[in-house]
Parts: sequence; C-alpha cells; structure tokens
Amino acid sequence: MKQLAELFQMADWKKEKHVPVIEAPVKVKKGEYFKVTVTLGKEIAHPNTTEHHIRWIEVYFHPQAEKYPYQLGRFEFTAHGESVEGSDTSTVYTHHAASFSFKTDKPGDIIASSYCNIHGLWSSSQSVEVE
Ligand code: FE2
Repeated sequence: MKQLAELFQMADWKKEKHVPVIEAPVKVKKGEYFKVTVTLGKEIAHPNTTEHHIRWIEVYFHPQAEKYPYQLGRFEFTAHGESVEGSDTSTVYTHHAASFSFKTDKPGDIIASSYCNIHGLWSSSQSVEVE
C-alpha cells in the first residue's frame, strides 16, 4: 500500500515545469521577517487552463534537528478560465505564485509542495541559515 509521502515527485525545476521554485534568502537575520516567493514553471511554463492547472502550493519550515515541520501557508488558485459558457471562456485565471514573509531564529529547510490537477504532487526545498 502506497503512503502519501511516496507520491511526492521531485526533480530539477529547470527541466521539470511542476517543481515548486522557492525564492528566499540563503542567510537571514534572527527575528527579521524575510520574503519568500514560491512559483512554478520559471524555466518551462506550466499551462493554466480549465483542463490543466496548478490547484495549490503549500509551504512548510522544518527547523534543523527538530521532528516536526511548521506550516507557513497554503495558497489556493481557484480561477482557471471556467464559466457558464464552458471551459476556458471566462478569461479569468489565477496565476500559480505565492509570496509571503516569515521569520525564524532557527536554521532549517523551507519545503514547498504543489498539486497539478493532472500530474499530481510535487515538492522541493531550500535551506535557510540564521546569523
Ligand atoms: Fe501539469
């Protein structure tokens, strides 16, 4: 029986359009908020149509040497061109990108996950040092 963790796919975001691209400083200062942006398809664009789109991005912070991660945010993208006229008729589309700020006194990993409605779950991470 498969576990959910086994269904997360990972790859190089420069070659695979589904991988979350995390943009955050590598080094941050204790107690100071810093900006994090997570998007997809920076190198190879991911489609955004009623039939094929990114539903959500979730971001966690996992401090080094701790057991549990902290959820930083969950971002849902809920407009993908659908309307009473049918698929891809509204001209209204939410782009799959999220920006927010957080602070930490602990070094660790920012872990992002994303969900494509037809290509499933994807994940990536980036380390953060604290000075
Ligand atoms: Fe996809």
